[in-house]
Amino acid sequence: MSTDPSLPEGRRKFRATEIHDKLQMVTPKYRNIGDLRKPITKDTENMIAEIKDCSSFLQWALPKMKMRWRGFRKVKRQVCKRLLLRMQELHIHNHQSYREFLDKHPQEWEKLEKLTHISISRFFRDYKSWEMLGKKLLPSLAANAARHKRDLNCWSAGCASGEEPYSLALLWNHKLASEFPGLTMHILATDADEHLLQRAWQSCYPESNVKHVPKEWFQKSFQQQEKDIFCLDKNICQKVDFKKQDIRKEMPEGPFDLVFCKNLVGMYFVHDQAVEIFNKISIRMQPAGILMLGNHEPFPEREVDSIYVFNRGLNIYQKKG
Ligand SMILES: C[S@@+](CC[C@H](N)C(=O)[O-])C[C@H]1O[C@@H](n2cnc3c(N)ncnc32)[C@H](O)[C@@H]1O
Repeated sequence: MSTDPSLPEGRRKFRATEIHDKLQMVTPKYRNIGDLRKPITKDTENMIAEIKDCSSFLQWALPKMKMRWRGFRKVKRQVCKRLLLRMQELHIHNHQSYREFLDKHPQEWEKLEKLTHISISRFFRDYKSWEMLGKKLLPSLAANAARHKRDLNCWSAGCASGEEPYSLALLWNHKLASEFPGLTMHILATDADEHLLQRAWQSCYPESNVKHVPKEWFQKSFQQQEKDIFCLDKNICQKVDFKKQDIRKEMPEGPFDLVFCKNLVGMYFVHDQAVEIFNKISIRMQPAGILMLGNHEPFPEREVDSIYVFNRGLNIYQKKG
């Protein structure tokens, strides 16, 4: 964080967006950037200390749950907010005391793990990957399944509130289904978080989540429910089966032609855990099946059997044919 040392104590300037983010995290009071032009008060400094505390706490706690701090750095706000609420619930006043509480109550680790689920998602996230999927990959996977007279099987792992599997259902319905009339596509979507799965079943989203849906598909398949809420047509929703599963403990059988594992395993789990899970995913893929990862997450290429880079820039991989 940058400060201006030339200003007197109490009137130091912090980068506005940075501090805004940090204050939003700890209190909803700071609604706009205008608040930040006011002098930095003791309260504010306490809050900044609070955020630093939360970061140090996470750097200590995440590896104990086989998770990597690096993945959380940019999204820690969501986790810190939940953590603060949990601490309030327990009448615990600082992160050090919460650490002591964890030591005395090992069952609390399970609660803490749930607080780390990052729910950020949107329809057609990483749009270029979706273009590649729609134009090249999915037609080829579909043609291959049709040639072998079998269904096309897809899995969205860590599906959050359904944005990813529903994007796939939209793509299939509006672009490819007519090209493969005899072919059935199955989409299975799994997530460890029950609340997110409830939202997926409701299938209604704020505008910010649906803004990358191609206009024509949006007009055909979404209905406005409230000012900023848009609900997906039931005939699209029906194409997706949701299941609660913790990817570290269980996985669907497969074999899958297409697997989305975006912004979960590579991003949030430590290297060894990621290698173990990706190898299990590899076993569940069809020969020449496609694995889509988030654009910015690492993949332990050398340690995962039979999976090779298909497009490095888009972080797309392929199982050996
Ligand atoms: C950042 S979201 C990614 C959503 C979507 N894949 C995307 O890229 O937009 C990560 C999702 O993984 C889920 N998740 C976290 N830990 C999990 C686990 N152990 N097993 C299954 N899902 C998990 C979270 O609940 C959350 O929905």
